[in-house]
Amino acid sequence: MTTAAQAEAKVFPPSAETVARAHVDAEKYTQMYEASVNDPVKFWGEHGKRIDWIKPYTQVKDVNYDFGSVKINWYADGTLNVSANCLDRHLKTRGDQTAIIWEPDDPNDEAQHITYAELHRRTCRMANILESMGVRKGDRVVIYLPMIPEAAYAMLACARIGAIHSIVFAGFSPDALAARVNGCDAKVIITADEAPRGGRKTPLKSNADAALLHCKDTVKCLVVKRTGGQTTWIDGRDYDYNEMALEADDYCAPAEMNAEDPLFILYTSGSTGQPKGVVHTTGGYLVYAAMTHEITFDYHDGDIYWCTADVGWVTGHSYIVYGPLANGATTLMFEGVPTYPDASRFWQVCEKHKVNQFYTAPTAIRALMGQGNEFVEKCDLSSLKTLGTVGEPINPEAWNWYNDVVGKGKCPIVDTWWQTETGGHMMTPLPGAHATKPGSAMKPFFGVQPVVLDPQSGVEITGNGVEGVLCIKDSWPGQMRTVWGDHERFEKTYFSDYKGYYFTGDGCRRDEDGDYWITGRVDDVINVSGHRMGTAEVESALVAHAAVAEAAVVGYPHEIKGQGIYCYVTLMNDREPSDELLKELRTWVRTEIGPIASPDVIQWAPGLPKTRSGKIMRRILRKIAENDFGSLGDTSTLADPSVVEDLIANRANK
Ligand code: WTA
Repeated sequence: MTTAAQAEAKVFPPSAETVARAHVDAEKYTQMYEASVNDPVKFWGEHGKRIDWIKPYTQVKDVNYDFGSVKINWYADGTLNVSANCLDRHLKTRGDQTAIIWEPDDPNDEAQHITYAELHRRTCRMANILESMGVRKGDRVVIYLPMIPEAAYAMLACARIGAIHSIVFAGFSPDALAARVNGCDAKVIITADEAPRGGRKTPLKSNADAALLHCKDTVKCLVVKRTGGQTTWIDGRDYDYNEMALEADDYCAPAEMNAEDPLFILYTSGSTGQPKGVVHTTGGYLVYAAMTHEITFDYHDGDIYWCTADVGWVTGHSYIVYGPLANGATTLMFEGVPTYPDASRFWQVCEKHKVNQFYTAPTAIRALMGQGNEFVEKCDLSSLKTLGTVGEPINPEAWNWYNDVVGKGKCPIVDTWWQTETGGHMMTPLPGAHATKPGSAMKPFFGVQPVVLDPQSGVEITGNGVEGVLCIKDSWPGQMRTVWGDHERFEKTYFSDYKGYYFTGDGCRRDEDGDYWITGRVDDVINVSGHRMGTAEVESALVAHAAVAEAAVVGYPHEIKGQGIYCYVTLMNDREPSDELLKELRTWVRTEIGPIASPDVIQWAPGLPKTRSGKIMRRILRKIAENDFGSLGDTSTLADPSVVEDLIANRANK
């Protein structure tokens, strides 16, 4: 193992070729960064012009971070349409250029190349279909689709008519889907018959059927045919997309939207309670997604760009669809998984489509690294120019493998730190401007002012070689505006602990050179294979089972997933632990939330370590899960210290 210190000592400057090609070099970065923080209004006033406005803005920024009256507005008097920015404005210059390359799950099936002109027509048809189903400006539409082009049509169609989409990742269960449909009072669910992934099929339509049992009778379901697999059909509720698309008109006028009208809601996990609906708006979000896409990846006209995320996550929103399409890019959309049919799939797709920028998650890199270099080496990866990672900290081993084996030492790695809430990249090295260090997110993007605070006092820690909680001073255009239907929760979550700052929930270190390293979450959010999960959600799923009296869930280090889900479960008095019950609980959580929340370890816990006031001491549970019994700290405040001994003695042997 490389120690953090050894890894940190390594610095990889960009090659002369990379610098020469880059939109932004070191000097330009410094000059632009300073301009962006010294006069944000001027800076963002200028950069807001990278997109087309129907009515140009005269106001740039109107922000208040004071707890109790938090308000975030960008370009508030401007009007625009996101789909017109992603489609119509490119038609004259690049109507015949490929907008989306779609690569299906099965490599034997044909890839599709969808031009901007075709994407425009498809989007318009979908928009007209939605209108014919009664969807109007401001209405919510839930999208529960596989990674197929129709997912992009659906997003852009909503944007076109001013409907607000809320995408639910296809790995979520019917219960989770129903909660999200009801949470935003959606009028329509757009789904498909089945979602093929890694050679298996998820029955999306029957999941939607099950979810709809828990929704209002008026919710309609638009069904895309993907596999042709059989689905049940309720006339009057279910609508056949493929049939309707044959009839639908090829043109739909884009709605004039205010910059601060919501573009989408995306549910994400927090440290407490159920997932919250993060709200992003129209103008600032698009400016920020487009600008970060171009500059972080050093995207140039004609390049082929591939982000392997799913549109069910924010990465797919900003960096498969909105950012790239606003820039007139060619964006690749992949339906499959990295290891199907085998571990060379990613690299074969890169070779086949001559990918120039490749963006993935550390968990995928770790999984592929473990399969051996031959899967990479048999493919021609000479087209690659920039590599990116996102979603979780990357360990130096994985970084070095990515750099050496995939990038052949020639491609800068942009380790992009950001969040669902931030809309776009917040800290990342820029290819031609910064040296990289394995595991460091390096520098803030333009307009982003990271601060390191003392976790207890909330006082800003200045200077270098310091560590603390990461907050952001001031706003940037891509910032979330509110929690859907609960502005109070928004203020409480992000603006109450450290007054006057946006609190990220992450810890960070600023090293001796002033470069940033994300140290992981400081709250009860865990990161499993780059998927964000609230331990509270898994706990409430477990206690909803009749056999469970109490549950506590923590993350623990997992070689491939980054973090695994470790559950301590106390059973009801009349229930006995058994392997069957263990299996049942695992299946239960998968049904309540989805396969992504499947517990890795369940340990039976006759008691949980609690303070005398009844608070579960998670710090201790984390240490036990990590197999780190030497540093449990002070256990004297526990109501019953013997509980800990029992847990250690019976720590699940996995
Ligand atoms: C973590 C994903 C280290 C972090 C875009 C953050 C990272 C959470 C990185 C947000 C990175 C994301 N290095 N940690 N490059 N990127 N994270 O909302 O803990 O799914 O708070 O957004 O992922 O996850 P989310």
